[in-house]
Amino acid sequence: MTLPSPPMSLLAELTHRCPLSCPYCSNPLELERKAAELDTAGWRSVLEQAAELGVLQVHFSGGEPMARPDLVELVALARKLNLYSNLITSGVLLDEAKLEALDKAGLDHIQLSFQDVTEAGAERIGGLKGAQARKIAAARLIRASGIPMTLNFVVHRENVARIPEMFALARELGAGRVEIAHTQYYGWGLKNRDALLPSREQLQDATRAVETERAKGGLSIDYVTPDYHADRPKPCMGGWGQRFVNVTPSGRVLPCHAAEIIPDVAFPNVQDRTLSDIWNCSPLFNMFRGTDWMPEPCRSCARKEQDWGGCRCQALALTGNAANTDPVCSLSPFHDRVEKAVAEASEKPELVYRRF
Ligand code: SF4
Ligand code: FES
Repeated sequence: MTLPSPPMSLLAELTHRCPLSCPYCSNPLELERKAAELDTAGWRSVLEQAAELGVLQVHFSGGEPMARPDLVELVALARKLNLYSNLITSGVLLDEAKLEALDKAGLDHIQLSFQDVTEAGAERIGGLKGAQARKIAAARLIRASGIPMTLNFVVHRENVARIPEMFALARELGAGRVEIAHTQYYGWGLKNRDALLPSREQLQDATRAVETERAKGGLSIDYVTPDYHADRPKPCMGGWGQRFVNVTPSGRVLPCHAAEIIPDVAFPNVQDRTLSDIWNCSPLFNMFRGTDWMPEPCRSCARKEQDWGGCRCQALALTGNAANTDPVCSLSPFHDRVEKAVAEASEKPELVYRRF
């Protein structure tokens, strides 16, 4: 049997606990409780197995990974194992002492998330009073430490017009890179899709704002466009079971953060099987790997090894079958469902918040 290539990145979701309550949270609808989380020895074993498997990068994520008291120890282990380490954080729990400890442990990069540029906008989405000031303070500390920093802004109908101000804030705070990511509509985000989905005109303005900023130079910009306005899907996760492996707080191993919605499949756990065995041999990881599983129109499409048929979780959420072509694709027989969602997006949003 030919084994698949090893994953490039491990997303270590250390905890689902989080002080924010964003209505587009990408974590599953059922959050895992603190008591179910892997302990430090469990996460150490995940990192060791990942390095042995050939993983190059670890992204410490959540929830809010800084809620875990063993984060510094895990970063230090990642460094020892030659894993590039990235901390994905809201920054609201970061202070000088914690940052210094992370720096000493060898943290390579921090991705700091912002909900908006205005205090009111940030509090409306994140639901935490005073969060914006804490994030700005965190950004200044990170900048002073010299750890490379990316600012991440999730954009949607309510804040998409403020993209130019987001770039201005990133330059003021000395970020080397900015990610402007349109909301993705899985899990909790799907509940708020009608309130958050931008109009086509808003998207065009946003894309122009990104191009204008790119032309100025001096800032690396990643721009994640919203699927719903596209006519070809993105290669979600770089293809199912091809580049990324996610480990949930309790040790379940998934090809993407949303995969637990896939029905009738066992979700393997690092407490029962090795990471390598799960990656190489589990039915979950082999379910949509490569192109053999594809239905038409993907099966005979020239793009099938570029976008790998799009997103399995989106196909499931919108068509009821994860093995269907992603309905974002205009060749999908279900593409009208995406067009209908765009047409029905509401001007008067009532947000449904996520609370832990
Ligand atoms: Fe991609 Fe399938 Fe659409 Fe072709 S038919 S562009 S492979 S989603
Ligand atoms: Fe699961 Fe795209 S989010 S495959």
